[in-house]
Amino acid sequence: MTTMTVETLRNYINGEWRDSASGTLLEDRNPAQPDQVVARFQSSTPDDVAAAAEAAAAALPAWRAMPPPKRGEILFKAAALLEERADGVARAMTLEEGKTFREARGETLRGASILRFFAGEAWQPSGDTYPSANPSTFLYTTRAPLGVVTAITPWNFPVAIPCWKIAPALVYGNTVLLKPAELTPLTSYKIVQVLEDAGLPKGVLNLVLGKGSQIGDALVGHKHVAGVTFTGSNEVGRHVYNLAIDGHKKAQLELGGKNPIVVLDDADLEQAVTQTLNGAYLSTGQKCTAASRVIVMRSVKDEFTERLLRRVQAITVGDGLDPQTYMGPLVSQGQKDTVLKYIKIGQDEGARLLAGGHALDDAGRHGGYFVEPTLFDDVTPTMRIAQEEIFGPVLALITVDSFEEAIDVANGVQYGLSASVFTRDAERAFRFVSASESGIVHVNSETAGAEPQVPFGGMKSSSSFSREQGKAAVEFFTQIKTVYFDMPPAR
Ligand code: UN1
Repeated sequence: MTTMTVETLRNYINGEWRDSASGTLLEDRNPAQPDQVVARFQSSTPDDVAAAAEAAAAALPAWRAMPPPKRGEILFKAAALLEERADGVARAMTLEEGKTFREARGETLRGASILRFFAGEAWQPSGDTYPSANPSTFLYTTRAPLGVVTAITPWNFPVAIPCWKIAPALVYGNTVLLKPAELTPLTSYKIVQVLEDAGLPKGVLNLVLGKGSQIGDALVGHKHVAGVTFTGSNEVGRHVYNLAIDGHKKAQLELGGKNPIVVLDDADLEQAVTQTLNGAYLSTGQKCTAASRVIVMRSVKDEFTERLLRRVQAITVGDGLDPQTYMGPLVSQGQKDTVLKYIKIGQDEGARLLAGGHALDDAGRHGGYFVEPTLFDDVTPTMRIAQEEIFGPVLALITVDSFEEAIDVANGVQYGLSASVFTRDAERAFRFVSASESGIVHVNSETAGAEPQVPFGGMKSSSSFSREQGKAAVEFFTQIKTVYFDMPPAR
């Protein structure tokens, strides 16, 4: 067993680092080496949530009254601090989530960009003026914060997603309860420390660690909570949504994907192969934006497959801290079991395994949750591995005979988050953009990735039809006030 100093993570409530009322700690383990405890953290209770909600409600009047540029200054400081600490934050992320240090560092720097973008939004106009039918009326709109907002964030982007929820929430004048996934408490802890050190007043951001099954309902249902923003599975998302609507709270969901890459007959195959590889296997396929289907036209299928297969077979799987590693472990035993279950389903359905398909569990792997990068050929569009989100390094190759068929297959799933097309033909590229039933479309790049200045989100079952980030974020985190302003008659 590897020895290291194991930190105990406390909740952050009303500007203080506090133990949970439960007196119980949970363990945060390294998925590359599960006997290694990375941190211990509070197993919080609904009482802890109530204390956090009270603190957030008490902090709200002063925070919303603070001029937005002052709020923005704090986020600018936080962005700089996060950049300074990027190596430590990224290392923590690799240790508890498993993604490579390189990816973790990239995500951390992206977190800083998100903070900086929303800091800048503090200087943007927040309303419009309108001509009124009444000559004496000054007619305009302004925006008010929602109030106390709960952010429930997943383990797969433990810096970027908390940042893209917290930063707009704060800049638009809300106070926040953050509940990070129980698999990645340490990374969120570090984000909260950054915001504390940047000078956030007490109670404005509160961190409650623990299990969703124990505190999720309290975080959504507490009477002080006005809105809930959630990223995670469709199943939990539905529960959160129903509970939120029942309590008359605003809710926003970012859910799953089954994202296609379409390779047309005139595509640059080298580009298509490299991008497909990254889309399918970076982060071990654990992104809602990962490419899980590649739809290839028959005339280029053999050459594309041969090149892709060579690259898949060359993928190095290992500990994310090893600079040689391209793909780390899955995040947990549960995730590994799900991936192996789907590989078996694919084989039973008659898909042909071209690469991978097995767990990597030889002695040198320390019991880490490793699975080979897996590629299935001869997948038909109705197979479960072509329809259901797997959230792992499993790619399904589907062959089509025409551009029209490619579009139908790409759209023929319940999800609609992201989709890519590879072609040199501008006409077909634009036709694909127009026909795609997804919230994000890429031409000649892979399905994942999200820049902070543009809206992010999916169609169909991939979201609650709302968008995050960019100019879209203000829509969720504020509400409009319309003002009819008339003067009393002149004296
Ligand atoms: C990305 O593609 O870089 O949970 C971001 C997810 C998405 C974020 C993807 N909400 O995977």
